[in-house]
Amino acid sequence: QAAGPLAGKKAIVTSGPTHEPIDPVRYIANRSSGKQGHAIARALAALGAEVTLVSGPTREPDPAGVKTVPIESARDMLAACEAALPADIVVCAAAVADWRVASAADQKMKKEAGALPPLQLTENPDILKTLSQKTDGRPALVIGFAAETEKVVEHATAKRARKGCDWILANDVSPATGTFGGDSNTIHLVTESGTEDWPAMTKTEVGKRLAARIAEHFQTGHSV
Ligand code: C5P
Repeated sequence: QAAGPLAGKKAIVTSGPTHEPIDPVRYIANRSSGKQGHAIARALAALGAEVTLVSGPTREPDPAGVKTVPIESARDMLAACEAALPADIVVCAAAVADWRVASAADQKMKKEAGALPPLQLTENPDILKTLSQKTDGRPALVIGFAAETEKVVEHATAKRARKGCDWILANDVSPATGTFGGDSNTIHLVTESGTEDWPAMTKTEVGKRLAARIAEHFQTGHSV
């Protein structure tokens, strides 16, 4: 039996990129490393939570003491999250592809002289929004990320309302912060009651601070 301030709480964390198939050998993807999502999953487990990590393809090792569910596409990620419900805590740290190819080919598309494949895109499901807006069995605390380069808190506050989630970790990725390609993140935590500005710290430290903040949230009685 797990010990710690989050013992008895169930958490779902999404991490990594998604891969959206074009045909059996090609896909659309992005450069997400999965470092932040995996760090959050590890930190929640360290505080005693029962964690399901739904992750796209990454180079990160599966965290010990966490149930890792590997997926590829956004639709698979949503289905795996739904299958892991009910949960008390959801943290959506994945970089989900906004679009997928409307009808992926069953066979490898052949290169034909002078002809380009007509790739019709369609919108992917928004996992954070879908889980936030559940009317039945909504997790008590749903948390998303926002990467912003300007008006960070203003944009994150608008995103919080648009998605219907409880907290947004706004990540200042403007060039001055060195976040892109660097190891440190500069976070502003936007909640119902305002904004907390965190100092620059590593992704591991962001995971630990978020897990501690979540534990504090449940301890101070905001459990619904
Ligand atoms: O709308 P935007 O992609 O900027 O929102 C970022 C937040 O929404 C992140 O928490 C991300 O994990 C989540 N998201 C999601 N499903 C999508 C798109 C974004 O869960 N299809």
